[in-house]
Amino acid sequence: MTEQIEQVVEVKVRKPSVQDLPGVGAATAEKLESAGYRDLLSVAVATLGELCETTGVSESVARKMVNAARDSMKMGFETGIEVLKKRELVQKISTGSEGFNTLMGGGFETGAITECFGEFGSGKTQIGHILAVNVLASNPDAYAVYIDTENTFRPERIRQLAEGVGINPEDALSRIMVARAHNSDHQMLLTEKVDSLITEQGKNVRLVVVDSLTSHFRAEYIGRGTLAERQQKLNRHMHALAKVASSHNICVYVTNQVMAKPDQFFGDPTASIGGHIVAHASTFRIYLRKGRKGSRVAKLIDAPALPDGECCFEVQGQGLVDRG
Ligand SMILES: Nc1ncnc2c1ncn2[C@@H]1O[C@H](COP(=O)(O)OP(=O)(O)O)[C@@H](O)[C@H]1O
Ligand SMILES: [Mg+2]
Repeated sequence: MTEQIEQVVEVKVRKPSVQDLPGVGAATAEKLESAGYRDLLSVAVATLGELCETTGVSESVARKMVNAARDSMKMGFETGIEVLKKRELVQKISTGSEGFNTLMGGGFETGAITECFGEFGSGKTQIGHILAVNVLASNPDAYAVYIDTENTFRPERIRQLAEGVGINPEDALSRIMVARAHNSDHQMLLTEKVDSLITEQGKNVRLVVVDSLTSHFRAEYIGRGTLAERQQKLNRHMHALAKVASSHNICVYVTNQVMAKPDQFFGDPTASIGGHIVAHASTFRIYLRKGRKGSRVAKLIDAPALPDGECCFEVQGQGLVDRG
């Protein structure tokens, strides 16, 4: 009986994998997979040097692998119409604040990474909780994933926000998959697991929150000497998140801290952690700061087709409220 079930599953999920490439046996496939080459696209865009180094195959075998991977998939140009069709699948997750939604062109987009960076207490975590509740409220079978690195996810806050938007708090909590990431490796592994929540468990994940994106990286790689290594790893993490966003049309929301730049006297003397690596991989970037009388100011500083701008809101019990 068990055997039969396994066979059915096998047929259902079987899609071309790295094992199907010429010159790739079980051992090489394992090396590829443990080095992060889990699908044909990752091999198709790999450099020969990388492949030789990770698997120990010769350059000519590596070339055959890359060519076969490229042949097996449709890579290259698509028409503007095709891109437009994909854009039509994009959903916008409400922040609950009209001003904030307008700033973002309707809400936080699926299929993209949005980064909020700002100092402690600027509202980054609150936004993560609010997006989770709103995505669940907008779709009765949606799931949200929350990768928590600072132990700041609060189910009781979810309950309160769910009541604020009028959905069942227990139902909301049952559709949020929370994982505490203990270090940067664990955080990266959890990102990979999102894929299996969707493909193996069939969950309709629409939002992935990584709060905070950079705290472990910052704590683990201290000092100038390790900066290059940290940036490389962060780069891989951002790519994995970008892939989650685009291959499953998911909104990826990441939070980031700012660090003081004591050498800068003009403007805002802060910069986000991870520098251009994180900035580059994020489709939308928002700078959050505390405003007057408990308000928060969100400044959109990077977006593909939206004007830069600001909005002012306040975090309240039931969610975000506009402030003039
Ligand atoms: N239940 C709540 N009701 C009203 N305001 C809240 C509530 N929970 C959090 N806040 C506000 O959010 C702030 C914390 O923001 P947070 O998202 O944790 O900041 P960050 O993640 O940027 O460090 C608090 O200082 C408070 O102003
Ligand atoms: Mg926080």
